[in-house]
Amino acid sequence: MSLSSSTVVLLWALLALAASVRSQADPGNGDNSATCPTQSQFFDQVIDHSQNSSHTFKQQYRLNTTTFKEGGPILFYQSPETANLSCADKTVLADWAQELGGMVVTLEHRYFGLSLPFGNESYTTENLQYFTLENVMADAVTFMDIVKKNVTGAEASKVIVVGGSYGGLLSAVFRQNYPDTFFGAWSVAGPFRGFGDADEAGPEAFNWFNYAQNIYARRSLESFTRINDSFSQVYSWLDSGSGGTLQKSLSLCSPPSNSSTDRTTLIAWLTSAYVKLAQLNHLPKAFYNVTGPTLDTVINDTLSAGSPIAAMNETLWHAYGLLAPNGCLNYTVSSDSSLGVETIPFTWVNCKWYPQNFALGTNTIFGQGLTPTPSNPSTVCAEMFNTTQVTGAEVHSKYKITQQDFANSTRIIFSEGEYDPTTSISMPQSWLGDVVGTDVQKSVVIMINGIGHGQDVEPTDLDPPSVVAARNVELNIIRGWLNVSAT
Ligand SMILES: *[C@@H]1O[C@H](CO)[C@@H](O)[C@H](O)[C@H]1NC(C)=O
Ligand SMILES: *[C@@H]1O[C@H](CO)[C@@H](O)[C@H](O)[C@H]1NC(C)=O
Ligand SMILES: *[C@@H]1O[C@H](CO)[C@@H](O)[C@H](O)[C@H]1NC(C)=O
Ligand SMILES: *[C@@H]1O[C@H](CO)[C@@H](O)[C@H](O)[C@H]1NC(C)=O
Ligand SMILES: *[C@@H]1O[C@H](CO)[C@@H](O)[C@H](O)[C@H]1NC(C)=O
Ligand SMILES: *[C@@H]1O[C@H](CO)[C@@H](O)[C@H](O)[C@H]1NC(C)=O
Ligand SMILES: *[C@@H]1O[C@H](CO)[C@@H](O)[C@H](O)[C@H]1NC(C)=O
Ligand SMILES: *[C@@H]1O[C@H](CO)[C@@H](O)[C@H](O)[C@H]1NC(C)=O
Ligand SMILES: *[C@@H]1O[C@H](CO)[C@@H](O)[C@H](O)[C@H]1NC(C)=O
Ligand SMILES: *[C@@H]1O[C@H](CO)[C@@H](O)[C@H](O)[C@H]1NC(C)=O
Ligand SMILES: *[C@@H]1O[C@H](CO)[C@@H](O)[C@H](O)[C@H]1NC(C)=O
Ligand SMILES: *[C@@H]1O[C@H](CO)[C@@H](O)[C@H](O)[C@H]1NC(C)=O
Repeated sequence: MSLSSSTVVLLWALLALAASVRSQADPGNGDNSATCPTQSQFFDQVIDHSQNSSHTFKQQYRLNTTTFKEGGPILFYQSPETANLSCADKTVLADWAQELGGMVVTLEHRYFGLSLPFGNESYTTENLQYFTLENVMADAVTFMDIVKKNVTGAEASKVIVVGGSYGGLLSAVFRQNYPDTFFGAWSVAGPFRGFGDADEAGPEAFNWFNYAQNIYARRSLESFTRINDSFSQVYSWLDSGSGGTLQKSLSLCSPPSNSSTDRTTLIAWLTSAYVKLAQLNHLPKAFYNVTGPTLDTVINDTLSAGSPIAAMNETLWHAYGLLAPNGCLNYTVSSDSSLGVETIPFTWVNCKWYPQNFALGTNTIFGQGLTPTPSNPSTVCAEMFNTTQVTGAEVHSKYKITQQDFANSTRIIFSEGEYDPTTSISMPQSWLGDVVGTDVQKSVVIMINGIGHGQDVEPTDLDPPSVVAARNVELNIIRGWLNVSAT
């Protein structure tokens, strides 16, 4: 049986929403605007680590040894799903390297950015076979060996692997699978739950948007109610075929119809505005006409606007105004490209070892007028790559990241932010068990109030005291692991 073309379009609209939330880009690269002080370089990396093969490709990395003292730690930031290699100079790792006499290095993720094993032919079925998590891990292990060999005094250096968002998953996976190479790990806003198709992910597939609406409800119940009213208004106009009114009220370039495609696309786009403005609270430069923290900007504007729908219009301008060259907002354009995400390789990652499932519940203020639809991200794996999607259970057991594995794990910091929906699918404290104890080597969850996605790894002008304090705790934990005292 083949799907009708309209069903396929609807699926793609839902998948676009899923793709936009699955990828939260790189907390270690901020708004990706400034160039990086440390120039990148390339080295010859093995294409297939499972064979003793001499085929190599050029993998991009950065290495800054300015603050390195003999035997000091290697602070290794693993770049995630972006087109641009992370810049660790802009992260707190630069300060910590100074404190610890360490060096800061970053490695680009294979098949992203300029680290393409087969150049512009990298995404063919034939060439994607080397794009495995095993190879991604081995890339990092090989790279660490080279750095230790190359940098004088680094032979016995301990590696702390750091990554944010999808990279936060990676850093924990590296530590769990190569504990001899990665002495400790800092998983910044790493997702570990809600994996697999609808049946497997179950209620956890809804965590993301449930949590997102709660961010608003907790910060301002009045503003939350107004946002709910604006979504009710949108659904009511869609139901009555009032696309023209919608277009005028929300500055849209074209009127949405009440087709399920338009409806889903529009709602995904509206919802994404509210989610991103909370999640990237600390990055006003990523938005239009915002200078302060973006969550409170939305809340204040929502409260002061003349009507709920006028408030929604303000919010949409904040979220998408930078993408409005014609003075109107195009709801079919996602904001994702501005985050530098590379869709094809990241979709492969989603199919093969990061099967994150995001479903928008009809019991949320955002999805109140949607028809319940089972969300099965695996559809895209078949359509795009003629492959099946891995199950969550497989990923968890194969890469040693089950609840049991983490309960027994050592030297992993999982840090999470209050305004980041990733927190809802990140490491729960309960997985690590009893927090009472004196063992500094035991893995730990650090929950940080008042911050956005990965804000602790990336200092900004808008840092609240909570994140400054949390960074001190994180650094002290790492000092404890390394057994070095504060200077
Ligand atoms: C290396 O790190 C130092 C100290 O954090 C920083 O001042 C410098 O800009 C970085 N880059 C280079 C190329 O030195
Ligand atoms: C790979 O091949 C080289 C040269 O034949 C050999 O020296 C090396 O030990 C081999 N490595 C592994 C892991 O088999
Ligand atoms: C990011 O990568 C793209 C493509 O390689 C490049 O054109 C752009 O200049 C890079 N941006 C930064 C800030 O390095
Ligand atoms: C890749 O680049 C080469 C050289 O620029 C070009 O000849 C070839 O057509 C490109 N292939 C694809 C699939 O774009
Ligand atoms: C390691 O050192 C060799 C020899 O100096 C150099 O060619 C190579 O680029 C270095 N590799 C890295 C990753 O720094
Ligand atoms: C949102 O508005 C709808 C329609 O007015 C209402 O039924 C629902 O209870 C509201 N939800 C919340 C959470 O306020
Ligand atoms: C929507 O907001 C923009 C930006 O603040 C404003 O220019 C426009 O007049 C608003 N439109 C409506 C219908 O309120
Ligand atoms: C909106 O963006 C889409 C995709 O880029 C484009 O095809 C379409 O023409 C745009 N619509 C308007 C009215 O600008
Ligand atoms: C900027 O936002 C404020 C509210 O935050 C609004 O009053 C003003 O009209 C906006 N300016 C532009 C140019 O959109
Ligand atoms: C929001 O409004 C409150 C109360 O007026 C004010 O203290 C705060 O600075 C405002 N925040 C922003 C980001 O506009
Ligand atoms: C899809 O993969 C299956 C086996 O995995 C193969 O039999 C089939 O020919 C492939 N279809 C296409 C269109 O490549
Ligand atoms: C975790 O540790 C407990 C107690 O030492 C042990 O019984 C259990 O087998 C371990 N589980 C795993 C998955 O390593």
